[in-house]
Amino acid sequence: MSMPRRAAQAFTAVLLAASTVTALSHTAAAADTLGSAAAGKGRYFGTAVAANHLGESAYAGTLDREFNQVTPENEMKWDATEGSRNTFTFGNADQIVNHAQSLNMKVRGHTLVWHSQLPSWVSGLAATDLRSAMNNHITQVMQHYKGKIYAWDVVNEAYQDGSSGALRSSPFADKLGSGFIEEAFRTARSVDPNAKLCYNDYNTDGVNAKSNAVYAMVKDFKARGVPIDCVGFQSHFNPASPVPSDYQANLQRFADLGVDVQITELDIEGSGSAQATNYSNVVKACLAVTRCTGLTVWGVTDMYSWRSSGTPLLFDSSYAKKPAYDAVLAALGGSGSGGGDGGGGDNGGGNNGGGNATCTVSFAKTSDWNDGYNAEVTVKAGSAPIKGWSVKVTFAPPQTVPSVWNGTASWDSSGTVMTVRDASYNGSLAAGASTSFGFTAMKNGNNATPTVGACTAS
Ligand code: G3I
Repeated sequence: MSMPRRAAQAFTAVLLAASTVTALSHTAAAADTLGSAAAGKGRYFGTAVAANHLGESAYAGTLDREFNQVTPENEMKWDATEGSRNTFTFGNADQIVNHAQSLNMKVRGHTLVWHSQLPSWVSGLAATDLRSAMNNHITQVMQHYKGKIYAWDVVNEAYQDGSSGALRSSPFADKLGSGFIEEAFRTARSVDPNAKLCYNDYNTDGVNAKSNAVYAMVKDFKARGVPIDCVGFQSHFNPASPVPSDYQANLQRFADLGVDVQITELDIEGSGSAQATNYSNVVKACLAVTRCTGLTVWGVTDMYSWRSSGTPLLFDSSYAKKPAYDAVLAALGGSGSGGGDGGGGDNGGGNNGGGNATCTVSFAKTSDWNDGYNAEVTVKAGSAPIKGWSVKVTFAPPQTVPSVWNGTASWDSSGTVMTVRDASYNGSLAAGASTSFGFTAMKNGNNATPTVGACTAS
């Protein structure tokens, strides 16, 4: 028995859509995302974000649906914010902060004092001038974001790798001595007393000479009343630098000094179940440490990772959830994970859906040729956030639709009415935010424009 022609087209459309989608989420319960599951455990789950991808619907859709904390990946660094002395540029970072605030996501400020991505004018300064440039930089950047940042990486990666336990060479350490770290923290506290002030580093994830040096610094700061609230463990892992067996113990010893700890730049190269197990172990370690207040992965999708070839993240290059995603959700006790206690609680992400969810649509032909056309339908959320949407498109026979993208299509029995629902990554929209889906239609001799019905939101 052959499949009816329209049904076959619908099947094709679903398959095409499914190639970039693994699951529909718009009817799911509260703790079915990383952010909501983490919130059920009293934690946040965040990601590094790049401003130049926020306009991509799959990127923003995944970000908005899954995460409730963001860290600008590069946009708050010294080269991005003060490329020339005392001229501050905040446009790209502001985009991220505004996006996050519109969805009630926490923002981690990254980073104020770091030897890398440092403009050459800073490296060229003599000590007195460098001290005032450092304090001015901290002051101006923190002032601009005052009240909007839950935690700042005040100083990043100040210590050397290896067994020395010494500070790394940098303009700050070389010219100001080890006191630059304390000075940076004291300045930061004076600018925004409500932001948490963190030290952040890599290769400090287990007990080793480098983490011992950071530990000694934090202990000393706490003993002398130097303001420090938290320590970030970047947690960039790969086979050469695996998750240490004493990861949890290391987090715990820092927490025992009276600071919060966070996993700040998590990515783990690999794939499949091995990667999933490593991710799961990291999440479990954080959950086992009361003062481990949240985790941040270093990017949304493998496609845009700083080490993309190692596929270190939770979503693949098509934004499909990887086994590592399922493992993280399960470790967080999220629903649909087949285990755990369900988490529950506040979803922390600000995506309400619910009774006042509305949306509108607009239609545009994006190209038109003898026998066919491409079209784009833009879906815009009303004055409340939405969790899902669907739109009916009615075609004039005998038009056919060989492909649909950024949506999941199904057809009525007449084969003329196509219902397109959100793909899993673009169902959640902030109030007033838009996404779009597209399709190719074959005219088969009928040049009529299809009728686009009203948008239904959930
Ligand atoms: O934006 C420019 C682009 O215009 C230009 O064409 C291109 C050519 O190289 O460079 C682009 O800038 C790059 C930038 O990432 C944005 O993609 C820089 O070259 C590149 O150096 C920069 O890399 C960043 C790296 O920090 C710099 O050290 C990575 O994105 C970022 O993920 C990485 O993040 C760091 C954390 O801040 C600290 N911990 C380690 C972590 C990973 O290295």
